[in-house]
Order: sequence, then C-alpha cells, then structure tokens
Amino acid sequence: MYKFLKKFWLFGLIAPLFMLGEVSMDLIQPRMMRIIIDDGVLGLNNSNVGDLSLIIEMGIKMIGIVALGGISGVLSGVFANIFSQNWGNEIRKACFKNVMNFSFEQTDRFSTGSLITRITNDVTQIQNLAAQCVRGFVRTSLLFFGGIYCVSSLNLKFGVVLACVLPFVIFSVMFFILKAAPFFDILQAKLDRLNNVLRENVSGARVVKAYVKEDYELKRFEKANNELVDTQLRVLKFFSYMSPISNMLFNIATVVIIKLGAIDVQNAAATPGSIMAAVTYISQIMHSVMMLSNIFQTVSRGKASGKRLNEILNTQPIIKDGDFDGNTEIKGKIEFKSVSFSYPQGNGELVLDDISFSVNPGETFGILGSTGSGKTSLISLIPRFYDTSSGSVYVDGIDVKNYKLNALRSKIAVALQRSELFSVSIKENIKWGSAFADDEEIESSAKTAQAYEFITAKAEGFETMVGEKGMSLSGGQKQRVAIARALIKNAEILIFDDSTSALDLKTEAKLYKALKENYESVTKIIIAQRIASVKDADRIAVIDNGKLSACADHKTLLAENEIYRDIYESQLKGEAKLG
Ligand code: UTP
Ligand code: MG
Repeated sequence: MYKFLKKFWLFGLIAPLFMLGEVSMDLIQPRMMRIIIDDGVLGLNNSNVGDLSLIIEMGIKMIGIVALGGISGVLSGVFANIFSQNWGNEIRKACFKNVMNFSFEQTDRFSTGSLITRITNDVTQIQNLAAQCVRGFVRTSLLFFGGIYCVSSLNLKFGVVLACVLPFVIFSVMFFILKAAPFFDILQAKLDRLNNVLRENVSGARVVKAYVKEDYELKRFEKANNELVDTQLRVLKFFSYMSPISNMLFNIATVVIIKLGAIDVQNAAATPGSIMAAVTYISQIMHSVMMLSNIFQTVSRGKASGKRLNEILNTQPIIKDGDFDGNTEIKGKIEFKSVSFSYPQGNGELVLDDISFSVNPGETFGILGSTGSGKTSLISLIPRFYDTSSGSVYVDGIDVKNYKLNALRSKIAVALQRSELFSVSIKENIKWGSAFADDEEIESSAKTAQAYEFITAKAEGFETMVGEKGMSLSGGQKQRVAIARALIKNAEILIFDDSTSALDLKTEAKLYKALKENYESVTKIIIAQRIASVKDADRIAVIDNGKLSACADHKTLLAENEIYRDIYESQLKGEAKLG
C-alpha cells in the first residue's frame, strides 16, 4: 500500500509542520498567562503594584498567538486530508482493478460482501489512520512531551511529581489498548458478514418476498447486526475504563503540585502564576493522553484494515496474460484436445473428462446434454474464465493460454445462461457490447435477436430503462437483449449458453434463421437442453456426465447415438402430451 504514497508524501510532511506551529502556540499560552498573573496582576517584580498596560499588551499578544495557532491548525488539517484522502483513493482504485482481474474462484474465496467492505469501509479506516498519523499523533506527542518539558522547566519538583504518575498512566493506557487490539480484526469480519446478508437480501428481494421469508431474513440480519454491535461495545468498554483511571491519576498529580507549589510560594521559591501555568500544562498533557487512546483505536483498526486490503492487493490473478496479441489468419476455429477439468474450488471431481473435438470457422455447433452434464463448464474454458486441469484449448490454432486475455476475449461474444443486464437503457445495454456501435447497428442486432419488435412496442422504445438486474423485462426479453449485446460485438465466435431457453419455439427458430443469414462467417456455438434448438446445427456434440458421447449431425445422431435418441424421444413425447 505504501507505494501509493509516492505522489502525496509532501502533503504528509507539510501537515505535521503546521501542527508543530499549532502546538507551539498552545504551549506558549500558559507561560504568557503566568506573566499576566505574576507581573500584571500581582506585580511581584514591582513591589506588589500591578501593571494594567502589561496585562493589555499580553492579552493582545495572546489573541494573536491563538489566531496564529488556529490558522496553523486549519492548514495542517487541510494538508492531512489531501494526503489521506488521495492515498485512500489510490488504494481503492488499485484494489478495484485487482478485483476485476480476479477469477471466479478468487472472488468466491473473499465473498462479495467482504470485497465491498474492504474497498469501502477498510479504505476509510486507512484514511483515518493516515490523517491521525500526520496530525493527531504529532499533536499528541508534541503536547505530551512539550507539556512535560514546560512543567519541569517551571519547577523541577513539579516534573518529579509527573514522573511518579506517568508510568501508571502509560501502563493503564497500554493495558487497555493491548486488550482491545485483537477485536479490531473481528470487528471487520463482522462487518463483512453484515454486508453479505444485506447484499443477498437486497439483490434477492423477489425470492425473499415470494417465499415469505422476511421474518427469517430479518432474524439473520439482526443476528449479524447484534454480533457487530456486541464486538463494537466490547472495544468501547475497554476504552471507557481507560479515561477515568488516567483522569484520576492526573488529578492526584494536580493536587500534589498545587500543595507543593503553595509551600514554595510561602517560601518565595515559586510564584502563583507558575502554579497556574503548571495546572494548565497538566490538563494539556491529560488531554493528549485521552487523544492518544483515540489514536490507538484508529491505528489498531487501520492496521486490521491494512492487512485486509493488502490481502486483495497481494492476490495474484490466477488466470495470467499470455504474450500473443491475437492476430491470426484463421478466424473462428476452436479445438479441444484431451481436455479434462475440475473446478478449483470444488472437491477435485472431474466435471469434464478427456474431451476432444474441433469447430470450424463459420460452423453452427450445437452442444446438448442434460442439466449438470458440463456444458457451461465446457464453454467457459474458451474465453479462459477457467483454465483446463489437463489438455489444451486452441482458438484459431493458438493455445488460449498464450493469448493476451483481452485479445482472446475480444474474439468471443458470450450470451450467458443468466442474462446479466445493467440498470441503464435498453440501448445502452446493447451498446455495452461495442462502444463504437451506431444506432443502425444497434437496431440491426436487435432485429436479428428478435428483440426489435418488443422494444419498439414500448412507449420509450430503445430508451426504456432496464431496472436493476433487468427487472423491468420478462425473462425472454432479457435473453434477447443479452443476445443483441453479444451480436453487436462483431466477434469471430458467438456462444449462446442456453440463452434462448425462455423463448417460444417459433421465436427461437426465427432467431436462429436470422443468425444463420446475417452471421454466416461467424462460428456459432449453441448450448441447449431442447433438441429443437440445435437440430439444424451443422454438428451437435452430445455431452453426458462430463464426457463427449458423440459429435455429428442430427440425422446421424438419431440413427447412431442412444443418448441423443433417448432425449429426442422423451422430448417428442413431452410435446405430444402437451399438444
Ligand atoms: P455445468 O454448469 O457445466 O452444467 O456444471 P450444465 O451442463 O451447464 O448444466 P445446465 O444445463 O446449465 O443446468 C457441471 C458440473 O459442474 C459443477 C456442477 O455441480 C455440475 O455438477 N459445478 C458447476 C461446480 O462444481 N462449480 C461451478 O462453479 C459450476
Ligand atoms: Mg449451464
């Protein structure tokens, strides 16, 4: 994290300098007060005759000093904020950038709620820490040590009294801080938990309502919330013990100093003004110790947060960039050579087992298989959402691992099984697939996706806003917008992962016909559970429990492949029953 300080270190240096100014002004004031009392009021150096003009002169000087201290304080605050806010900003950007490069299993490992807490709350803790270090900590230590020096220089006996009390104060402060420190890690983890529950409930609101699970979820939220509050209270409890104890110690010191001072005044070894000044210094030192406890809270929290942010920053993306820039002569060829795969976060069970096949440029290639057979897993190896466990995947003759990720992924457009749309207009959602697309292209890809009619039938047409997660559209409409978004990318390879499952057969047939006509040279991979969706494909791969059972056209499969025939017959019967 420290490398992000490079640009702002100067501000972090200037802030304490101004703070030095503010504290010096604070420390000068009691001394001036002493002169006002001893010389101005009591006239100790002038046979007990007071000096009004000296009082006025010192008063004006004191106002000046207060103003100067105030200005220094403000400037110190401004520079400390520039320093801490900018640093946090850089850390936040770097974390976000790293998270964007995480593979799915890495995101899962952190959990979404935790990633959000880290990038928001933990960064704020670091910003507080930075501001405290260049401002609060400097102020506190200067006041503390400066105060001790000033008291001792007023009267050495006062210094001795302080020296007796301070070890106890420091011991009690350290004791409670060390007790509280481990709770800061726990506190952030509890916050993660709360954010996870919150996120799941906000994004899953419809399911919660449909199952009338509000009470259940409320309890879950309450539990997470109570745990957070409990931890917070435990921390605060430690710190609330701390201040009465140190207050008491300082008050004892004050009483002793007044007593000793009074004896010295009687013996003419000290002046009343010096006792007043000493009492003011003690209250300043006491104040600095109080602040110290706040600072240590911030530091402990900041340390815990820093550890969590470093975990993000130090996580190397598992899927690493290759060197190849993607410029190939062949366009749209895919080859699987003895590919086996198991999910990195899973139990090592093979989801794909020794699969080999190839898809030629411009071919329409169907993938059929029952639910859970491994179809989505198979195609997620092409854009390298995951890496194979063994064997290799080639795109345009080059191993996908050799490509620069951007180069590889720009060759491929995927309409995912669950169409994720964004809460912007339909037009923006489609255009998201290609930043350079004009209105004509947007319309033509909507037409191919069979989305044009329903979009233009809406009052606001392409400008219709899509609710969060596509809530304002029907399931089939969402799928078609997602398909239009994939089409507009103008990629060499189009992959539809069960992305026409919510369409009726007629609309689906129209879509595939338009696709064939308008995207002839593009390689099209169509995953489906319905034979009707793939039967017109040039070839169909039948996946059965992670294995490639056969790969041929509809007729051949019907004649030769038992699994395909079974699926065909069961679906035919299903349709007959429905009909
Ligand atoms: P797939 O998700 O590849 O199956 O999961 P599929 O053929 O596409 O299924 P449908 O048609 O969409 O329903 C294949 C296997 O991989 C496991 C699943 O449990 C399944 O057994 N899997 C999937 C994981 O272990 N982790 C994942 O992140 C996804
Ligand atoms: Mg799937």
